[in-house]
Amino acid sequence: MSDQTAIQSQILDAFAFRHATKEFDASRKIPEAEFNTILEAARLSPSSFGLEPWQILVVQDPAKRALLEDVAWGANGRMNGSKGQLFTASHFIIFLAHTGQTMSHGAAYLERHLREVKHFPEEALPGFKGVFTQFQTSDFHIETDRQITDWSARQAYIALGNMMTAAALLRIDSCPIEGFQIDPVTEILGRDFGVDTEALKPVVMGAFGYRATPPRRPQTRRAAADVIRWI
Ligand SMILES: Cc1cc2nc3c(=O)[nH]c(=O)nc-3n(C[C@H](O)[C@H](O)[C@H](O)COP(=O)(O)O)c2cc1C
Repeated sequence: MSDQTAIQSQILDAFAFRHATKEFDASRKIPEAEFNTILEAARLSPSSFGLEPWQILVVQDPAKRALLEDVAWGANGRMNGSKGQLFTASHFIIFLAHTGQTMSHGAAYLERHLREVKHFPEEALPGFKGVFTQFQTSDFHIETDRQITDWSARQAYIALGNMMTAAALLRIDSCPIEGFQIDPVTEILGRDFGVDTEALKPVVMGAFGYRATPPRRPQTRRAAADVIRWI
C-alpha cells in the first residue's frame, strides 16, 4: 500500500469511527497531550480573513456543568434515556462567537488583531479595512449584531469540525451539541462563568470522551450522487 493510500484509509476509517456519541464512559479521561492536540486543531483552523472570531470554554468543573443541565436538552440525556454527554464526557467545551462589538468593520479589536496577531505592516491596514468593510456591508450583507455573530459562529463550526476529526483520528469520541437554549445559557455564562456576553455569545457545544456503548444505529447518509454535482 502506498503512503497516500494508507493515509486515505486512515482518514476514511476516522470518519466511519466518528458518530454523535450520546453517552461516554465517565471513568475514562482523555490524556492531556491528546486533548491539547484536539485544541490545537481548533486553534490552527482557518477563518474568514484570519480573524479567529471564536473563544473556546473548556468546562471541566462538574458544578459548572450542572448549571447547564436544565438548559442543554441535547446533552442532558433526557431525550434518549441516557446519562447524557454533559455529565459523562471527559472534556466538554462551549464555543463562543465574537459579536459586532469586536467583529464589525472599524472595531478597535480588529485593528489590534491585524497588528499584533497577523503582523500586518501599517501601510497594509487601510487596504484591508476597505476590503473588509465592503465584504461586510455590500458583499455579504453582514451588518446587524446578530448577522455578525452568526458569521462568527460559522467560523467556529469549522474549528469544531476539525476538533472532531482530530479526535476521531486519535480514536476519541465526540458529539457536537446545538440542543440548548441560547438565552438562559447566555445568562448563565455571564453570571456564573465570567463571560462578557456583550462581546461573546454561545453558539455550539462539544463533548469529547470514550463511548460507553457501541453506536445505536449505523451511520446513514445520502448517496454521493445526491450530494455532489460535478460541472
Ligand atoms: C451542529 C450540530 C448540532 C448537534 N446537536 C446535537 C445535540 O444537541 N445532541 C445530540 O445528541 N446530537 C447532536 N448532533 C448530532 C447529530 O444528530 C448527528 O451528527 C447526526 O444525526 C448524524 O449522526 P452521526 O453524527 O452519528 O453520523 C448535532 C450535530 C451537529 C452537526
